[in-house]
Amino acid sequence: MTTSLAPRVFSGVQPTGNLHLGNYLGAVSRFVPLQESFECIFCVVDMHAITVWQEPKELFHNTREVAAAFIAAGIDPKRHIVFNQSQVQAHAELAWIFNCVARLGWLNRMTQFKEKAGKDRENASVGLYAYPNLMAADILAYRATHVPVGEDQKQHLELTRDIAQKFNNDYAEEIAAAGYANGFFPMTEPLIAGPATRVMSLRDGTKKMSKSDPSDLSRINLTDDADTIAKKIRKAKTDPEPLPTEAKGLEGRPEAANLAGIYAALSGTDVEAVLKEFGSAQFSGFKQALIDLAVEKLSPITGEMKRLMDDPTHIDAILSDGADRARALAEPIMRDVRKIVGFVGRAG
Ligand code: AMP
Ligand code: TRP
Repeated sequence: MTTSLAPRVFSGVQPTGNLHLGNYLGAVSRFVPLQESFECIFCVVDMHAITVWQEPKELFHNTREVAAAFIAAGIDPKRHIVFNQSQVQAHAELAWIFNCVARLGWLNRMTQFKEKAGKDRENASVGLYAYPNLMAADILAYRATHVPVGEDQKQHLELTRDIAQKFNNDYAEEIAAAGYANGFFPMTEPLIAGPATRVMSLRDGTKKMSKSDPSDLSRINLTDDADTIAKKIRKAKTDPEPLPTEAKGLEGRPEAANLAGIYAALSGTDVEAVLKEFGSAQFSGFKQALIDLAVEKLSPITGEMKRLMDDPTHIDAILSDGADRARALAEPIMRDVRKIVGFVGRAG
């Protein structure tokens, strides 16, 4: 019964290279404390990655690298599940069913598709268009109740709820007959909070920090060493004014707001506290403090990622163990889904 569903967290990160500070502050770092109060499933979504072309060798490397980042950031793969999506068939199977639940009109509204497909929409893959249905399947194959993500995923999570709702309505009779009193899929809660839900490019405060920005100076990668981090922050775009003393003063100053948000997230405070400390000081002093903080927080993670990447067999073992455990959670749910939809097969 959905009412008695234990809280369960699911989140995914694409192995598309250049894992950056936005991914870390908006998502991965926020996964870590959730381990204390939730059962967690963290997934390297390699099937999502191939919605745009990936060199197979790079995909292979990047999948291990995202897994290494999860673990280096403090996710415990023994207590929780870390795996890559393609090892668990339930994702593809449920995505197909959701392709038949979701409406074209819903997907036509997805802003991320419009951004990623760009002007050459005719040439985008069908997978890129159907991508949000696969994301809904990732979450609902485990009947996950909470999903920590950055702001850019909000619309996809709304769609996930729409899909869950429509499935629950369309199959209401069968769901009840299978013994579920309150619908089959939960209305998943997004967890989007904190000062860094949308980290912006260091070169342009109106653009999201992104793996695919052609300028490497626009982002801090989790693989950057201390000198590179320092150089990128020093070169980060700012305006000529010093930092304001109150958050209101950041309006219309996207670059200043971004750096203050990054500092707040890295130091575990909020923007008000940062402005109290650095307000009316010159940017050069603030930037130096930000460099010191970023290096202090990120270097241990970078170091641990490197160490883990030196032993790929160990990472692969973690991913296949995680996949076994994920499969065991998804399989009974999928048996019910097949029965509810009306697929003939061996009764579970
Ligand atoms: P992706 O790299 O698209 O797979 O994103 C992985 C996670 O990082 C998702 O939860 C995103 O919402 C989050 N994320 C990506 N870019 C940013 C950003 N610039 N600021 C905050 N969160 C982000
Ligand atoms: N679409 C997400 C992104 O690009 C990644 C993702 C795939 C995801 N499946 C998910 C996030 C399920 C949360 C839950 O960032």
